[in-house]
Amino acid sequence: MNGRVTVLLLLLVGCALSASLNKGSTGFNRKRWLIHGRPWHGLVPLPAAHDASKFPDQWFTQPLDNFNASIKQTYQQRYWSNDQFYKPGGPIFIMLGGEGPESNGWVRAEGLEWVTLAKKFNAMLYLIEHRFYGESQPYGKLISIDGYQYLSSRQALADMANFIKAKNAEMKYENPKWIVFGGSYSGALAAWARQQYPELVYGSLASSAPIQAEVDFYQYLEVVEFAFSQVDAQCADSIHKQFVLLQKLMKTAAGRETVKVEMQVCERIDPHTPRTSINSGNL
Ligand SMILES: *[C@@H]1O[C@H](CO)[C@@H](O)[C@H](O)[C@H]1NC(C)=O
Repeated sequence: MNGRVTVLLLLLVGCALSASLNKGSTGFNRKRWLIHGRPWHGLVPLPAAHDASKFPDQWFTQPLDNFNASIKQTYQQRYWSNDQFYKPGGPIFIMLGGEGPESNGWVRAEGLEWVTLAKKFNAMLYLIEHRFYGESQPYGKLISIDGYQYLSSRQALADMANFIKAKNAEMKYENPKWIVFGGSYSGALAAWARQQYPELVYGSLASSAPIQAEVDFYQYLEVVEFAFSQVDAQCADSIHKQFVLLQKLMKTAAGRETVKVEMQVCERIDPHTPRTSINSGNL
């Protein structure tokens, strides 16, 4: 039996095992088998937006700057809700949007873990879009570099806190138990939400959340390389060669000058000045 067949067989056994494990009582699919940090059948595709009449875009007014009261500008944050499972006294689930546009598919699509849980626990569902993504744009399309000072996780969490306080008042929730959900970057936000606003957030579910800072986190770049190789092996190979070259260039003063010119880096690359030390992985 050659190696490839063995790997294939192992994968098939893994799939079968995974399928049998998933027949648990939870009613949703927990991804247990990972390849390069990804479930073997790929990530759950983004739920398609639908039923715009039933789950329309809604808008919530947020301050542009949550930490400086003298800045009076506001922006409209997009959000969605679904009350079809909610019974008074049930928990209130809120999903935090991450670094991309959101859609009403998340509050609507049955089979998603959090919707299944909402059904089980009679929960209310909210999803808020992250500032500066999708249509939650403080500056519309006319954003300047300066404007991005208001794009931060601190500001996004403060937006969430405003939203929770306003909904508590508007909907007259009594002793509301807000549970925050998020995945990946917004998973980290969910964890921080509970830590930073314990008076508002009863619990949080941080899925695949990168909460442990790691120096020289090369494992992430391995996943990126794997993704490139899945689309075009030659492209992945070229990128790999360029990084090897970059690393070589970064070792000499002349090489660093070449990188500065070729890659149009604004500042001088001086490995002895921490502020401008540039990790070639980030170029
Ligand atoms: C708050 O904003 C005002 C107006 O832009 C500015 O003058 C002030 O320095 C800001 N305060 C802080 C603490 O950033």
